[in-house]
Amino acid sequence: MAIGSLGPLPPPPLTLQQKIDLVGRKHRAVHSKMQQELDLNGFVYNMTDPESGTRIIRWLVQNGHLDSKSNFCDPFMGNGLLVHLVHVMTGVDSTGIEKDKQIYEAAVGISADLSNLGVIDPQHVHLTCGDCRYLSLARFNVFYLLPPWDDGGPDPMLVWDTITNMRLGAIMVLTHGINLSSCYYSPFRMERYVEKVKDIGGAEIYRRISIAP
Ligand SMILES: C[S@@+](CC[C@H](N)C(=O)[O-])C[C@H]1O[C@@H](n2cnc3c(N)ncnc32)[C@H](O)[C@@H]1O
Repeated sequence: MAIGSLGPLPPPPLTLQQKIDLVGRKHRAVHSKMQQELDLNGFVYNMTDPESGTRIIRWLVQNGHLDSKSNFCDPFMGNGLLVHLVHVMTGVDSTGIEKDKQIYEAAVGISADLSNLGVIDPQHVHLTCGDCRYLSLARFNVFYLLPPWDDGGPDPMLVWDTITNMRLGAIMVLTHGINLSSCYYSPFRMERYVEKVKDIGGAEIYRRISIAP
């Protein structure tokens, strides 16, 4: 058969960097649309920027906290940026939980588009609409925590509920807005439940530990 009759060649597979760029572009586009169009009752939906997310994930991989045996969860996923980035950059199972139905549906739409583009494998990306306080977090061993800001910081009770639901040894990324040693959190004695692994600039890494005296 003549080569000319085989038709056009399929496009070359996407490189990792192209996939990361597509995730970032898609999330940025949906994020700005959501801010303009959704009725979020004045709630300013806050998204991690894709470059910071990528940098944090690289750090976790390079320092042995995220590998092929990991099971990642963002319990406050918003539109699922970290869920998609972790899966794309590592191939691991990645789960996101989001309480707000409109935001959850935006995340599902992004996932479908990324799947159609061949960026993610939908079998390894799991999105749930619900309140993370009432769902089991026991099977996850790496978390990213960026809860909604309320009155100058995230609700301490919500942070406490989430962290105490994690399994012992779980690694969590906290943004600098969640300073567990601040007076805001001191009534919860959060230092008894976590140990600090590292400040990586822009985020801090903690490990869930058994309750200290
Ligand atoms: C600041 S956004 C974080 C978005 C995303 N993690 C990121 O870094 O781009 C916090 C999200 O948590 C959601 N949320 C608030 N309380 C929640 C809860 N109890 N369970 C699950 N999601 C919740 C909010 O609707 C909001 O979309």
